[in-house]
Amino acid sequence: MPAVITIRNLRKTYASGFEALKGIDLDIERGEILALLGPNGAGKTTLISVVCGIVNPSDGEVIVDGHHIQRDCREARKRIGLVPQELSTDAFETVLATVKFSRGLFGKPRNDAHVEQVLRDLSLWDKRNSKIMQLSGGMKRRVLIAKALSHEPDVLFLDEPTAGVDVELRHDMWQMVRRLRERGTTIILTTHYIEEAEEMADRIGVINKGELVLVEDKAKLMRKLGKKQLALQLQSPLESIPAALHDLPLELSKDGTTLTYTFDAQSDDTGIAPLLKRLSEQGIDFKDLHSSESSLEDIFVSLVRKSA
Ligand SMILES: Nc1ncnc2c1ncn2[C@@H]1O[C@H](COP(=O)(O)OP(=O)(O)OP(=O)(O)O)[C@@H](O)[C@H]1O
Ligand SMILES: [Mg+2]
Repeated sequence: MPAVITIRNLRKTYASGFEALKGIDLDIERGEILALLGPNGAGKTTLISVVCGIVNPSDGEVIVDGHHIQRDCREARKRIGLVPQELSTDAFETVLATVKFSRGLFGKPRNDAHVEQVLRDLSLWDKRNSKIMQLSGGMKRRVLIAKALSHEPDVLFLDEPTAGVDVELRHDMWQMVRRLRERGTTIILTTHYIEEAEEMADRIGVINKGELVLVEDKAKLMRKLGKKQLALQLQSPLESIPAALHDLPLELSKDGTTLTYTFDAQSDDTGIAPLLKRLSEQGIDFKDLHSSESSLEDIFVSLVRKSA
């Protein structure tokens, strides 16, 4: 199936001369949830803004469902909903009027039932007659989402949708994203909560300094780059790791009571059996052990470090 969005050699140099995107190539598949991760200033919002037709690229192209984002802007934008990172809404309008108006902007015929459904899904129906300025920060963010969904987009961009929202709303949001995906909506989200990407995404893209460092299926990524660790609680503390064990990937805690062995999560041969044998040969006994696996967060941090 052809990608719903195709991005080719996309570059953006701002008027200041700053190169925010340095040649991005990316295919976004229909119906997937893609999480874009990257440190502050990596270029995530810039990328989203170019794809949504808000910022002009310096070079390269974006095709949305067959429509060129610059040459065929209206058709391309109709298919896209954007929840921007920054809150800016018409403070004096009511929730209902804002969302209805937003639908109209995209040339869609009036559909009060759809607007009502969106507001109910986001627990905003009770607030429909409130002015935006009377809402809390989290509610304003929900209004942005309602606006983005008002014209029934095929592709939804969520730029840090859960920044500054409470735990409950975050979970509501995840639910909503899943429901949208079930209906076939493609979703691209950015987040600094890596657990959110771990929970939601089908694929992970990592951006650093204007470059796409990696795009990979989430499960594959975690298998490929994930490490496992085995921590051994020693019977008696060690001053240092004996020289006879220096060839092993071992680390001793500062207080000398814990030895940690790191191994490849996908390898068949973990090396644990020989490790235990060699420890006992050295007279090192342990009273407890536990294993752990690296999270997406660990993987992300090491990727960004490496690319820097
Ligand atoms: N209008 C602009 N003019 C000049 N530079 C800009 C402009 N907008 C963004 N930049 C710069 O481009 C870089 C990328 O910014 P962008 O907002 O895309 O980052 P981001 O990955 O979304 O970061 P964050 O996680 O903080 O939201 C930053 O160095 C930023 O200062
Ligand atoms: Mg941003």
